[in-house]
Amino acid sequence: MHQVLVTGGAGFVGANLVHHLLRHTDARVTVLDAFTYAASTESLVKLSPLRTHVVAGDVADEQLVDSLVATHDTVVHLAAESHNDNSLHDPAPFVHTNLVGTFTLLEAVRRHGVRFHHVSTDEVYGDLDLDSPERFTENSAYRPSSPYSATKAGADHLVRAWVRSFGINATISNCSNNYGPWQHVEKLVPRTITTALDGGRPRVYGDGLNVRDWIHTDDHAAAVLAILERGRIGATYLIGADGERSNLDLVRSILRLCGRGEDEIDFVRDRAGHDRRYAIDSTTLRTELGWRPRFDDVEAGLAATVAWYRDHEHWWRSRKARTEASYAAVGQ
Ligand code: NAD
Ligand code: DAU
Repeated sequence: MHQVLVTGGAGFVGANLVHHLLRHTDARVTVLDAFTYAASTESLVKLSPLRTHVVAGDVADEQLVDSLVATHDTVVHLAAESHNDNSLHDPAPFVHTNLVGTFTLLEAVRRHGVRFHHVSTDEVYGDLDLDSPERFTENSAYRPSSPYSATKAGADHLVRAWVRSFGINATISNCSNNYGPWQHVEKLVPRTITTALDGGRPRVYGDGLNVRDWIHTDDHAAAVLAILERGRIGATYLIGADGERSNLDLVRSILRLCGRGEDEIDFVRDRAGHDRRYAIDSTTLRTELGWRPRFDDVEAGLAATVAWYRDHEHWWRSRKARTEASYAAVGQ
């Protein structure tokens, strides 16, 4: 792995992955990113210019993608429209980037014989009952609920078909909910932290009993690197850190960490089609590749994340007003 192309490298998970790759390998990294509202140039400014190159462009641009893939030995694909709420209001960009973009990359990878890793989500498996002992495994059936998760599920299927029919060298990972630095304030953790720091009342959808399985984004990055270095071609790995928490519980923790009362919450209109519970069984990743999460305590990870947002108000402040105006327009 010498020349790595990271799509979506200016987004939340992508930027943290790029930092991780530069810290833990000798590879040179090219970021391909369309710089949508979700991207952040600031997350990339401290990277070594000798080892990083940033290209602004669309993953569905066939010519651009072909020329970049031809000059790299590894592609890690994260570029996506990533927010469920947005996908309910305007699904079109999700189909374009998540499906057409993935297809465009797969065709280029097939032409040039390049190693491909597809970063996907646990949401492709739909949801679980709150009282079920079940967790998602590599063998769980695909049952996506939202336009976002349906396009990610479709992209996973494309990757598997290209492995089987065309023999490309690809792996897939499906990870649970990430938190950490540089996450856009539209998402639950940073939205809640920044609202709490501003003295406002965080918004909880529905009854707040929905469960998500939280993982620090550095642990996600370490798992992706383990798969790039030691993963079986054609395999899927589920990434999770045993971090199941209800949204209500998580929001209360954040309020406490911000020095606020834990009942200062507004319950708002539920998300349409809202998945009830996600839970990951990451046994394969742990036993086969020896990966372990460094942040195995969500509370400690959240405390570090609250500290990061306290220190980076200049970064999130400009995004906050715009994001809250969009939420207010739909009563959330
Ligand atoms: P994000 O929205 O923060 O970042 C996505 C990035 O993709 C942005 O920089 C955006 O500019 C870029 N992008 C969007 N459309 C593009 C296009 N057409 N061409 C090139 N770049 C484009 O998302 P994220 O949370 O960092 O998620 C990144 C990936 O990880 C996604 O594929 C997502 O499905 C997956 N994932 C995320 C999580 C999570 O909890 N955040 C969990 C599991 C999997
Ligand atoms: O599971 C992995 C997925 O996690 C990724 O594939 C997605 O890209 C990522 O956005 C995330 O999806 P979620 O929909 O789970 O994340 P979000 O932060 O939007 O919401 C988390 C939970 O919190 C969800 O149950 C909805 C709820 N919520 C969200 C917001 C923004 C609230 O109750 N209040 C809020 O203000």
